[in-house]
Amino acid sequence: GSYDTGGYAHFLLKEIHEQPGAVERTLSGRLNERFATAHLGGLNLDARELREIRRVKILGCGSAYYAGEMGAQLIEELARIPAHSEPASEFRYRNPVIEADTLYVAVSQSGETYDTLAAVQEVKRKGGRVLGVVNTVGSAIARECDGGLYLHAGPEISVASTKAFTSTVVAFALLALHFGRIHDLSPADGRRIVAGLKALPDQIRKVLEQQQEIEALAAEYAHSRGMMFIGRVRGYPVAREGAQKLKEISYVHAEAYPASELKHGPLALISPELPTVALVPDDELLDKNLTALGEIKAREGRVLAVAHRPVEAKLADHCLVVPKSEPELDPLLLNIPLQLLAYHAAVALGRDVDKPRNLAKSVTVE
Ligand code: AGP
Repeated sequence: GSYDTGGYAHFLLKEIHEQPGAVERTLSGRLNERFATAHLGGLNLDARELREIRRVKILGCGSAYYAGEMGAQLIEELARIPAHSEPASEFRYRNPVIEADTLYVAVSQSGETYDTLAAVQEVKRKGGRVLGVVNTVGSAIARECDGGLYLHAGPEISVASTKAFTSTVVAFALLALHFGRIHDLSPADGRRIVAGLKALPDQIRKVLEQQQEIEALAAEYAHSRGMMFIGRVRGYPVAREGAQKLKEISYVHAEAYPASELKHGPLALISPELPTVALVPDDELLDKNLTALGEIKAREGRVLAVAHRPVEAKLADHCLVVPKSEPELDPLLLNIPLQLLAYHAAVALGRDVDKPRNLAKSVTVE
């Protein structure tokens, strides 16, 4: 059942392995092949209302905020609507300007995070419209929103979010596809994304098959003084979520930086004691990412690349090869090995994986 570890050593590992099914449920009944779009019955927004939206502001905390960063990129790329993710915990305290032509989207696994609920209430009090991307049916945030979509990822018990994170990104891909097909996304591109979404569950299974290899790498890197996570554009939110997961459950210090910013400061940190996890998707930024790896190797930094094809040995000490999706959907798959890396690092260090110190599953207080 959902409330035992079902033969896995921890809930976290079980939930990592539940991701193919969680993604299938998030997608279930929501792909419209005929019009190459998404069918989202709960938005409570018709095409005319959607066309009037000029901006999207995404609000969530922690991993929900990072999933929102991936969501913002999906909406900008597929629908060409400016979109931005902000920590709900900050937004609620800065007397935000609420605009009639901005769509607000609240993201929460539990649906009970107080900072996110307060942000939703602030938007609504000022007359804004809020959609929810929420896992828990009937939760406080879901009830407060004007519409939205549920993840249907199933209960998430472990404090660190994995399957809800992945399902949230899938939900944003559906939203972005739906918005895109109302704006200027072509039917051909719509079909490309629909096919990409349908292929995700099997591709996630492929990543999960690399567990033993990732376990061995985790044992090697877990004892580092700290770790750097780098990525550019689509890879940057992956780096941020990867660093957060490692911090949360292994207590190893981790920093995420855009690879483009290395030479503007953090390169000074690079040494053999601070290895780097580098997101190196096979996209238009590949050459730039490989140049950054050269700069790290020249300072004797160790590199673990997460890439779509093997990175040559002089640029990376290790490389995890992840199946290629459509470029817009790649971040979701690139994140999966980082979950296993954090999990196995935490196990190697003897941490309380499902209940890390100082953290609660959902922060329902101020
Ligand atoms: C996830 O690994 C964290 N435990 C945390 O950042 C979490 O995502 C955040 O507190 C938001 O929770 P929610 O999705 O239930 O609102």
